[in-house]
Amino acid sequence: MKEPTAQITPLPQFQRVHQQRFTIEYDYPVYFTERVFGIGNAAFCEALSRKEPNKRHRFVVFVDENVAAYRPDLVGDITAYAQHYAQKLELVATPELVPGGEPVKNDPQLVERLQRRLLDLGIDRHSYVVGIGGGAMLDLIGYVAGTSHRGVRHIRVPTTVLAQNDSGVGVKNGVNAFGVKNFLGTFAPPFAVLNDIEFLTALEPRDKIAGMAEAVKVALIRDAVFFAWLEAHADELVAFQPQAMAYMIRRCAELHMRQIAHGGDPFETGSARPLDYGHWVAHKLEILTHHALRHGEAVAIGLALDSRYSVQVGWLSGGEEVRICALLEKLGFRLWHPLLEKRHDDGNLAVLVGLREFREHLGGELTITLLRDIGVGAEVHEMHEGETPAKTTQSPMIASTETTAPVT
Ligand SMILES: NC(=O)c1ccc[n+]([C@@H]2O[C@H](COP(=O)([O-])OP(=O)(O)OC[C@H]3O[C@@H](n4cnc5c(N)ncnc54)[C@H](O)[C@@H]3O)[C@@H](O)[C@H]2O)c1
Ligand SMILES: [Zn+2]
Repeated sequence: MKEPTAQITPLPQFQRVHQQRFTIEYDYPVYFTERVFGIGNAAFCEALSRKEPNKRHRFVVFVDENVAAYRPDLVGDITAYAQHYAQKLELVATPELVPGGEPVKNDPQLVERLQRRLLDLGIDRHSYVVGIGGGAMLDLIGYVAGTSHRGVRHIRVPTTVLAQNDSGVGVKNGVNAFGVKNFLGTFAPPFAVLNDIEFLTALEPRDKIAGMAEAVKVALIRDAVFFAWLEAHADELVAFQPQAMAYMIRRCAELHMRQIAHGGDPFETGSARPLDYGHWVAHKLEILTHHALRHGEAVAIGLALDSRYSVQVGWLSGGEEVRICALLEKLGFRLWHPLLEKRHDDGNLAVLVGLREFREHLGGELTITLLRDIGVGAEVHEMHEGETPAKTTQSPMIASTETTAPVT
């Protein structure tokens, strides 16, 4: 009997598919500590040694100039710390000062200078780059570390409220380029983060307050109990009472970390970014004001606006937005900025262009987080642009001409 012939046409070479797949696990500790470079505090040494305890670890340190100005002893402290822990640590050069604040993210020459410095110091993929500073300076240092040798280990020591409770504990780094904020950047989790509350005492009151907006934000989308705590302790926070500040920062950082680890999209490949609640407005206002508004100050306005909008589309119960605005105002935020009323020549409100830019930055579908309740954020894919925002500090809004529930 004749064997049946198999009718299989082999795939042409160019159509063969070999499926590649692997997963990488990330883990990094976030310490909440005091006097991080005090000789008696082993946390920093422990953080660098945690994967290879028997090795001597090379590290280089960059310090935000404005931090060093308030802590003239800091460079000496770091050097003494490295000497004390010399069995485990090798400081490869005297800690270097780098300018701080948003302008530091606008300087490509500085990026190149720092990358070259890592090359000259022989920083390899097993050495550490340590950044001590505000969120802007840490974004820069993380980017320099993340792009040198395709990624060098970096350690963050955040020194502002916002950097300790939000940006410093996350996985993003970046600099501004071609006039676009954070256009160049990396998703590169830090090797460790050390939050030292002592740094905050030197901060301008304005910078202490600004970071609290991120705590209100994450409470609004994820944790009603934390929101009630913020309301109950607003007076202590306004007075920068240390215990209240420490708890606010820790809880806020914890909620951000949980969202990154368990929200299903740590490197933001999808369209939803719940931690950016209120941020489409904020990003636009920061640009419109040429950064005269701090990020947190702009976020507070964005939170108020999107809370009001959540009420208008029938998600959040009426009155809750007043509660939200009352907390923000009690913390010291102004919930109005004249540029909210700026119009382009075509009559459109400039701030609403922020919606389109937000979508362009993320790619994909427009996805904005709104509130179903205090503590419960949910995503929508359209927003109705309507009339001029009403000018009131209690309830800024984009008035909607339609009241149809947004598509979820
Ligand atoms: N990577 C992320 O995930 C992420 C998230 C949110 C925000 N960010 C970025 O963070 C930046 C904002 O960070 P920020 O709010 O910390 O502001 P910032 O870094 O601009 O710091 C504000 C000012 O305070 C100074 N400063 C820092 N620490 C100080 C201290 N202890 N004492 C005195 N002065 C001090 C800084 O030099 C600066 O002049 C923005 O660039 C924003 O884009 C990044
Ligand atoms: Zn933010």
